[in-house]
Amino acid sequence: MAEFTLPKNSRIRPGKTFKADADAARVKTFRIYRWDPDSGENPRVDSYEVDLDDCGPMVLDAIIHIKNQIDPTLTFRRSCREGICGSCAMNIAGTNTLACTRSISEYSGDIKIYPLPHMPVVKDLVPDLSNFYAQLESVQPWLQADSAVAPNRERLQSPEERKKLDGLYECILCACCSTSCPSYWWNSDRYLGPATLLQAYRWIADSRDEAKGARLDNLEDPFRVYRCHTIMNCTNACPKGLNPAKAIAEIKHELAHRQGVV
Ligand code: SF4
Ligand code: SF4
Ligand code: FES
Repeated sequence: MAEFTLPKNSRIRPGKTFKADADAARVKTFRIYRWDPDSGENPRVDSYEVDLDDCGPMVLDAIIHIKNQIDPTLTFRRSCREGICGSCAMNIAGTNTLACTRSISEYSGDIKIYPLPHMPVVKDLVPDLSNFYAQLESVQPWLQADSAVAPNRERLQSPEERKKLDGLYECILCACCSTSCPSYWWNSDRYLGPATLLQAYRWIADSRDEAKGARLDNLEDPFRVYRCHTIMNCTNACPKGLNPAKAIAEIKHELAHRQGVV
């Protein structure tokens, strides 16, 4: 019989509240998912009252402030603080996004922060991306070309050929798209998901690459590509404004083209 409640060890229990100083003028509450695998306890949501006069303007600034000034046990990833590295991807107020590029002022009321959904959690806001990276590696996201080039010369591209990579090369592999994709939620063991497929297409579309046939062979599978049902959550989620759903459609078109279907 179907079970419609979470298993007992997944149920979120009430967490701690960290109050702001009584004289704090501009208080914002951040409700943050906490889970420590070593504790043996269920996850909880802790509430942190932050005086916005004490921290920077972005959501990541508040999380760093919490870790530095309120609760050093809070665990999360971050590096560049400017939307380049992709490591601060998390679910903020129900949307997968980058904490460093979202302003606190965008959100009214308490701000709820969870790890990227439908991924195993390492601790607190840190998802386990092992499967995501293994899938990325499986599409061999690097230039493959055996033909000879003149010594000390680049492999040249025309401006038109280079333009075909716009909207693809900018991907920072944050995983916001894949973790917002329902097909990926249910089939991430076999479906590659939008981030990896966008990377796959980035090399299929590169005029310098000579492995297009092998790349398409690698994708020709009922699950690896064709679990995409064009729901478009991925494109709506991308914090860099990219369109992974379009890249997947291009791969499907390439596969159909070589089969003579289109
Ligand atoms: S368009 Fe495809 S990859 Fe994007 S969310 Fe929908 S099913 Fe997932
Ligand atoms: S396509 Fe966008 S959302 Fe997906 S991994 Fe790349 S940058 Fe992140
Ligand atoms: S810290 Fe690098 S993208 Fe946010």
